[in-house]
Amino acid sequence: MNSRRARILPHVGAAVGDTPLVALDRLASGLPGRVAIKLEYFSPGGSIKDRPALACLEEAEAAGILKRGQWVVEKTSGNMGAGLAWACAVKGYRFVAVMSAGNTPERRRMIEAFGGTVVLVPQARGGTDGQVSREDLELVEAETARQVQKRRAFLPDQFNNPACVRAHERGTGREIWEQTAGAVSHFCSFAGTAGTISGVGRALKRRNPRIRIVVVEPKQAQTLAGKRVVSTSHVVQGGGYAMTPAIYDPSVVDATWPVSDRVALRTMRDLAREEGIMAGISTGANVACALALAAKAPRGSVIVTVACDTGLKYLSLDTQHRRDRR
Ligand SMILES: Cc1ncc(COP(=O)(O)O)c(C=O)c1O
Repeated sequence: MNSRRARILPHVGAAVGDTPLVALDRLASGLPGRVAIKLEYFSPGGSIKDRPALACLEEAEAAGILKRGQWVVEKTSGNMGAGLAWACAVKGYRFVAVMSAGNTPERRRMIEAFGGTVVLVPQARGGTDGQVSREDLELVEAETARQVQKRRAFLPDQFNNPACVRAHERGTGREIWEQTAGAVSHFCSFAGTAGTISGVGRALKRRNPRIRIVVVEPKQAQTLAGKRVVSTSHVVQGGGYAMTPAIYDPSVVDATWPVSDRVALRTMRDLAREEGIMAGISTGANVACALALAAKAPRGSVIVTVACDTGLKYLSLDTQHRRDRR
């Protein structure tokens, strides 16, 4: 008899989660703490947002508010759009992403490749290409409300839906605990909806309240730190919207850490060249924070962060290969 167990997944939705956790021993060489990064770009939709996307649909199905054949509409800076487009393709829903024109075209094209429709909202006056500000998001919000009404759609509402936090609490946070065998001492992450930081924070604090949770923000827009916003414009796509999202759970956050555009971009490039991990700009921000924590932490500390998405999504910005800004 063949004693080997078949390992064929029933559908690609089952491939979400259990992403690899990888040590950054070159970048963190000589530091007292060790840094490890969870590679969320291994997920089928290509980012950390597959987990909350799937959770929003599954919790809505279970509650009876999302039914077969219905439209799903979401406002998105891009990765949640790609995650939802992917999840809707897997589950057979029709999907519309309402998106600011300030996002990179890669995400737009991904949504369309998964069969979704993109409604592009022009940027607010004075907006910068490749950067999405709070003002841009407000315009996107108004168009989203119109689309939901027109299509009688289900709105996952990622900024307000606690399913996003639960996805990271049940998944990402638990996995980090298990993959480090409980040795994780710090977790840091850049916040958009704050689903990642709140969910992972809850999962880890429940298991060990001494684990330090640090939220990363753009230097010029440190809203969660309670500081005055100097500018809402920055290059770190996927978050830093100079607002406090409804699902943000400050009770599990110990500190905030500011990152400049320059440091986020430089660290993103170092990560690709020195560790072979080509990730996006928010990942550069995350790793910069993790390295700063590792430099100050007691010997033996284990600092964990996440690679939110792949650098492939930013190639049109030419941020990976330019050496002049180093
Ligand atoms: C590239 C990127 N980084 C970070 C985040 C922030 O994740 P969260 O919304 O869980 O705070 C997002 C969210 O869309 C993202 O797309």
